[in-house]
Amino acid sequence: MTYTGLLDKYRSILSLPKHTANITLYEGNTPLIPAKNLSSFLGRDFNLFIKYEGLNPTGSFKDRGMTAAVSEAVGRDSKTVICASTGNTAASAAAYAARANIRSIVLIPQGKVAAGKLAGAIAYGAQVIQIEGSFDDALSMVVQLTEKQPICLVNSINPYRIEGQKTSAFEICDTLGFAPDLLCIPVGNAGNITAYWAGFKQYNELNNTGLPQILGVQAEGAAPLVLGHLVEKPETIATAIRIGKPARGEQALEAAEQSGGKIIAVSDQEILNMHKKLASLEGIWVEPASVAGLAGLYKQIQHGLIDPTGKTVVAVCTGHGMKDPDIVTSGFTAPKLINADLAELEEIINS
Ligand code: F0G
Repeated sequence: MTYTGLLDKYRSILSLPKHTANITLYEGNTPLIPAKNLSSFLGRDFNLFIKYEGLNPTGSFKDRGMTAAVSEAVGRDSKTVICASTGNTAASAAAYAARANIRSIVLIPQGKVAAGKLAGAIAYGAQVIQIEGSFDDALSMVVQLTEKQPICLVNSINPYRIEGQKTSAFEICDTLGFAPDLLCIPVGNAGNITAYWAGFKQYNELNNTGLPQILGVQAEGAAPLVLGHLVEKPETIATAIRIGKPARGEQALEAAEQSGGKIIAVSDQEILNMHKKLASLEGIWVEPASVAGLAGLYKQIQHGLIDPTGKTVVAVCTGHGMKDPDIVTSGFTAPKLINADLAELEEIINS
């Protein structure tokens, strides 16, 4: 049967109002890729899988939630959607709004959005507005604005975003036949970890697939859920998760606690190291925030706090590497330049 997107596949088990339309880019159905080279590098004998969410239509997991949120908005004749974003939500909202032929407005923190995300939002035709402030400031503005004006908010405060994003947990269980023992996932505004936990719980009730422990991972400079207080000026190279006041922070903590897992933080250097390892060992290039979960797993193994031996572990990699090419090219010396001469080429590759 031809795959036609998440709402066609899972609508009967998602809590969406009857009026919900079907605005789809055939999102979801992303691969669960075994990562044997990386599990060897991590030094334990276990089954590691990457849920490669960067292969969604706009290059991030946001498309799962956006098909649901925009479809609901369109079904009640909403003409405009708005969001605050560190970039991926912006690109996704813009694409689904384009598909639905409605207007999209996106607020982004000045200078802190990776090139591939900003380019996407512009290409899909969003009205892009930068603010002199953080993501958290932008989110507070769009929340206030949508209380006053008939514009649909499509940040993950919108419950339909969570409904759509639950489908990744469903897919993991469909592929493995059961829930993994451990799920490692980056945490920013905390919508996704909330959605995965809800999805695993629901699937377990329906299909007895079991529940994973959840390891949520923030960046050290933007780790309110680890510190136990909001962070006024979050800072990290993983700009996607540069968030100091996560909207669903309480639910993220609940997910970690109920699952017997935890939320930890990793440094920018740990993120960059894992970013390089995943690409060079497995051929999977993701944006920096996407490897936070894996970097957290590595740190826990190194400190003897998690032993995955014999277990099934899924790491959610949330966005594609092409979203943030600068992270690679900015620290890179230009490739060697030679004459168009075979002898010269041979000399170099044999030296
Ligand atoms: N990974 C990537 C690549 C993201 O873009 C985000 C969030 C996260 C992880 C964290 O997910 O917020 O549900 O905990 N990006 C949002 C955005 C904030 O605006 O694109 P979360």
